[in-house]
Amino acid sequence: MTAHPNPAIERAMTSVAAAVSQAEADPARPRYHFRPPAQWMNDPNGVIFHNGWYHLFYQHNPYGDAWGHIHWGHARSRDLVHWEHLPIALWPSLELNEAHCFSGCAALDGLGRPLLIYTSVPNQEDGRPPFTQRAAVGDPDWIHWQKHPANPILALETHGGPPFEPDWRDPFVFHEAGRAFLVLAGSYDDMAGVALYEAADASLTRWDYRGLLYQTPRSDARLLECPNFVRIGDKWLLLTSPFRPVEYVTGSFDVALLRFTPEQRGVLDPGATDAPNYYATNILFDAAGRSILLGWVRGFPAGRAWNGCLALPRILTIGDDGHPRQQPIPELQQLRGRERPLAPGVIRPGAPVMAHTPSDTFELEAVIETGNAGAVTLRLGCADDGGGGIAIRSDGQTLDVAGTVVAIPAGEEPAQLALQIFLDKSVLEVYVNGGRLCVTRVVEPPRAGVGVSLAAEGGNAELRAFRLWEMRGIW
Ligand code: FRU
Repeated sequence: MTAHPNPAIERAMTSVAAAVSQAEADPARPRYHFRPPAQWMNDPNGVIFHNGWYHLFYQHNPYGDAWGHIHWGHARSRDLVHWEHLPIALWPSLELNEAHCFSGCAALDGLGRPLLIYTSVPNQEDGRPPFTQRAAVGDPDWIHWQKHPANPILALETHGGPPFEPDWRDPFVFHEAGRAFLVLAGSYDDMAGVALYEAADASLTRWDYRGLLYQTPRSDARLLECPNFVRIGDKWLLLTSPFRPVEYVTGSFDVALLRFTPEQRGVLDPGATDAPNYYATNILFDAAGRSILLGWVRGFPAGRAWNGCLALPRILTIGDDGHPRQQPIPELQQLRGRERPLAPGVIRPGAPVMAHTPSDTFELEAVIETGNAGAVTLRLGCADDGGGGIAIRSDGQTLDVAGTVVAIPAGEEPAQLALQIFLDKSVLEVYVNGGRLCVTRVVEPPRAGVGVSLAAEGGNAELRAFRLWEMRGIW
């Protein structure tokens, strides 16, 4: 491999390469979720579809499997399933006192050049110098990046109004009515908000402050990290990551008045009860006009030379009820390998039914009618008697995914539970009733062996449909 022309990136990539064999040896590391070659990743950044490629950048520490030294890793894909790792794209310019390249987005400037827009975090050792928003320009292949001569493209002086705190970050660009806008997470006094800016020209390096798009008291959230604001059909969706599970607000946006009017709100993916396992989302629109949601799976144990991965890409839509629906992209079906059967039928208490598979990387679709059973329990990686493993239990009203208990939103068929489950070693994603509810969990991988069991309590339940495919890896 030839050396990278940028010594800072060369050093970083050498460090990642040295950790690959340890990361690969870990049996808990996911096989069909995107992750860096080794070491730490957090938020997906700069996700975009351009010239037939899906580009993914991500917060990356090349020097360890914990957060720090934040660079932007880079990968690309033709199908959102198989990824090609590319050289690290952004590095902290230490000589400019830049310590980290925080989250941001990708866009094309008026000359058609790729831009990465990110939050530049200065070395905080001497006082707390404020963050700035900066850009980097890419070559036509999107491989090599230079810091933009116009930097910083946004500084606190831009506002002329209330100063945001040093924590002022995570630019996200959207276009509407032929105008380019950008949202950022910012807070001041007792308010955490989403600040709105409009591009003064097509360079996307000059921005005017347009006020707050959205706000909440600081007592509710310290900062609304990683705001995403997009139009899906005729509704608008705001996602924020407020140091707890990602929250959504849907509503209408009046582009003449620049006013967002919320209608519905909720939690996008609850994760574990003590910490979000799904966080810091990003959204892209592809050639077919689909809005694709990407998020970071977090909460893995340290010390394994890798930490963090991307959740499966999800198609994001908004239902007639104004709440989002998340569904795994159909492209993932190409990973389906051997199928393991389980016949539909009645499940009687004390007599669990079982599908046998030695695999801990599979996809499972099940439709369960609770019937007169008080509860049904599905166990992934169960023992010979159908017990043990990772439990997913429903009493008809609530769903318990490995200890995370959530209410099941009322659906068209109240007594029926349609589950689409992905287990990938230590990552579990559960999609319920057409994606009205989604739960991502980091789990202990089940001991390989027996398979999946389904048990009823207190009465008969019925298994209407069941399909299980062992999944191939993507690397
Ligand atoms: C969210 C976040 C962002 C920030 C980045 C730093 O996980 O805290 O707000 O830009 O991570 O890595």
